[in-house]
Amino acid sequence: MTEAAHLTVDGTDGDYPVMAGTVGPEVIDIRKLYGATGRFTYDPGFTSTAACESKITYIDGDEGILLYRGYPIDQLAEQSSFLEVAHLLLNGSLPSTAEHADFSRNITRHTMIHEQLATFYRGFRRDAHPMAIMCGIVGAMAAFYHDSTDIHDPQQRVIASHRLIAKMPTLAAMAYKYSIGQPFLYPDNSLSFSANFLRMTFGVPAEPYVVDPIVEDAMEKLLILQADHEQNASTSTVRLAGSSGANPFACISAGIACLWGPAHGGANEAALNMLREIGTPDRIPEFIARAKNKDDPFRLMGFGHRVYKNYDPRAKVMAGVAKKVLDQLGIADPIFDVARELEQIALNDPYFIDKKLYPNVDFYSGVVMSAIGFPTSMFTVLFAISRTVGWIAQWTEMMEDPEQKIGRPRQLYTGATHRDYVPLSAR
Ligand code: CMC
Repeated sequence: MTEAAHLTVDGTDGDYPVMAGTVGPEVIDIRKLYGATGRFTYDPGFTSTAACESKITYIDGDEGILLYRGYPIDQLAEQSSFLEVAHLLLNGSLPSTAEHADFSRNITRHTMIHEQLATFYRGFRRDAHPMAIMCGIVGAMAAFYHDSTDIHDPQQRVIASHRLIAKMPTLAAMAYKYSIGQPFLYPDNSLSFSANFLRMTFGVPAEPYVVDPIVEDAMEKLLILQADHEQNASTSTVRLAGSSGANPFACISAGIACLWGPAHGGANEAALNMLREIGTPDRIPEFIARAKNKDDPFRLMGFGHRVYKNYDPRAKVMAGVAKKVLDQLGIADPIFDVARELEQIALNDPYFIDKKLYPNVDFYSGVVMSAIGFPTSMFTVLFAISRTVGWIAQWTEMMEDPEQKIGRPRQLYTGATHRDYVPLSAR
């Protein structure tokens, strides 16, 4: 391990400690840099900055590896359930049978929402984007669950965590139902996490809803694959919001707002819209050319990643899920053929090879969600349901970190220097 990093500023030498994790690059501890040199570091987009220490998720972007608490994502997606993964992310270990039963009971017991929250929906326009509704409604939870907003009480933190994970599917399904003018369905706690969500979304009170096991399995995999992704933009937002001592409902609402953007969670919606716009394989070259054109802002949605410079391991699993769902449900969606061919063409194009641009999780997730029956506007909402587990795990880890302090980046100021006020009449 490197002992220290040496930096010479204005002829003065300084040593900065180097820290090593269990795996991954070492980091240079520059906390004393400003005091010693009067200089900040400049790193817009945090491309070279570790903002915290974490034990939850590890990504090796060059090798295309993603581990939740040490377990490879493909093993979890193939063999585990979403609630098992939630327990793993929150508590650090896969649950025993007794722990699993206990955790599932806790989540299930919290699936209903305060009845008065339902009235909030009527304040939104029918055509509101469900992510807009989710930002508002999740933030509003803080007004209803006062007994779990004391962030310094570990027991209240656990209750808030369970409430958020359990109620997200209920709130999301209600956002969908509101948009199509159908009545809300109460949760059915005899069902699994995924089946319950599917029923609240696609069921109606007038008849029983039978959950298709193929769809339930695909839903579980979707949720597992998107549950956490270390310090991505929305997770960093949750941590930054939480660093000021804000309550967890407010923090998760901030995470949802960040996730909404097309460069992050909104990419799945954008990717499917792009595939639909391409429509047929013969139009692919036209879109590839646009993606490569510096003067055209168009990007191949679902391609490229800040961390993965190799195939996103979630995209590999997602491609398999997409194929299975379409095959088993007997859906012949030309979008999937466009996606497969676009992937092959891009993977063999020097532009994408040189820039190490590979499909990311969002490239195929839209195909899966569309096959299940979700409109594109719900895609990012599904991502939010899943990522709530990661947000909560990361927020909890931060709250328990003795080194935690308010997040407060600095800046390189390039604005005007001192100016004296000029009265309006003299300007
Ligand atoms: N299509 C065409 N060119 C691209 C693409 C793309 N999808 N992504 C990156 N590039 C080019 C970009 O133009 C730049 O070229 P140059 O060096 O000549 O200026 C180079 O590759 C590096 O791109 P960057 O924007 O500096 O890289 P970044 O790490 O800041 O951005 C990204 C990562 C994911 C925002 C970007 O790849 C992108 O916009 N992809 C499309 C949106 C998308 O699929 N987002 C989902 C991310 S995965 C889900 C999640 O974790 O939330």
